[in-house]
Amino acid sequence: MRRAKITIVGAGNVGATCAHWCAAAELGDIVLLDIPQTEDMPKGKALDLMQSSPIMGFDSCVTGTTTYDCTSNSDVVVITAGIARKPGMSRDDLLGTNAKIVGSVAEQIKQSSPDAVVIVVSNPLDAMVQRAFQVTGFPANRVLGQAGVLDTARYRTFLAMELGVSVEDISALLMGGHGDTMVPLPSCTSVGGIPVTQLISQQRLEEIIDRTRKGGAEIVALLKTGSAYYAPAAATAQMVEAIVRDKKRMIPCAAYCDKEYGVGGYYVGVPAILGTGGVEKIVELQLSEKEQLAFQNSVDAVKELVAAMDKIVSGN
Ligand code: NAI
Ligand code: 2OP
Repeated sequence: MRRAKITIVGAGNVGATCAHWCAAAELGDIVLLDIPQTEDMPKGKALDLMQSSPIMGFDSCVTGTTTYDCTSNSDVVVITAGIARKPGMSRDDLLGTNAKIVGSVAEQIKQSSPDAVVIVVSNPLDAMVQRAFQVTGFPANRVLGQAGVLDTARYRTFLAMELGVSVEDISALLMGGHGDTMVPLPSCTSVGGIPVTQLISQQRLEEIIDRTRKGGAEIVALLKTGSAYYAPAAATAQMVEAIVRDKKRMIPCAAYCDKEYGVGGYYVGVPAILGTGGVEKIVELQLSEKEQLAFQNSVDAVKELVAAMDKIVSGN
């Protein structure tokens, strides 16, 4: 059986760590690509990872490159290329620089891997995935963004820490954009099947939700030189796995919503079924009035961000 081919564009913190998780899980053969100015850095990281394979016991092949030739006909391409935020910066401060980077990467992917499923990770996520969709011209189901798996994982971690239970027993969902307006849904959060609202006071739950919304900034403030990468990379690897193994996982991701939730042609975080085709179905939930308002507020923030990006890339 042919192994899946996974290209990861951007061999920095998130890209290299994602390559690590994907190789360790033997999701396929991995190509790690960065810009020519990095010279041999992607080759060095790829070789280092390969040399861990006899110890960790995986047979994935990892190669590093600065050109798109050896990425051709990838099944999945992950875009982590771009700059990351530093203390004092919001994700939105990355907009102009990363829109250009993601646009040029998407142009290359369109030529080299025309049948790939593209997972965008670069920030500001909801705008960057829209940019990759615009430039590749791929069907909307084959372009998606990673945010919801990470944000939900943060929420589940904080809940497990609070309750002193295994993270495995916490099931939760977040929707909306990857920013301060993200919408955790207490109505879809349970612990071992018990609604979370029966286990935690309303006030404490609000505090945990607030910490989740600021989860990225909390790590930036601690690291000081960049942003989170272990959990973001693990979240991305979970999406890669769902696609290459056709697992039909139902996980939150930035998916193209047109009629769905009345969004009107933008990428926002929604529960979706992921398999070989990328986003195979967007699941539409019945939201309460309060949740619907919060979701709409988040969609409006995404639309503003995309409008700002479109203005930058059109030069107006
Ligand atoms: P990093 O700075 O460690 O790595 C970025 C890499 O991209 C660098 O090696 C750089 O040389 C490379 N790069 C720049 N332009 C490129 C191009 N045109 N082609 C190929 N490679 C290029 O940054 P890190 O921490 O890996 O973050 C990457 C991006 O992911 C950032 O925009 C960050 O904000 C975003 N991010 C998104 C998350 C999410 O949940 N969606 C979570 C964490 C990070
Ligand atoms: C995060 O949430 C920076 O988006 C990135 O950690």
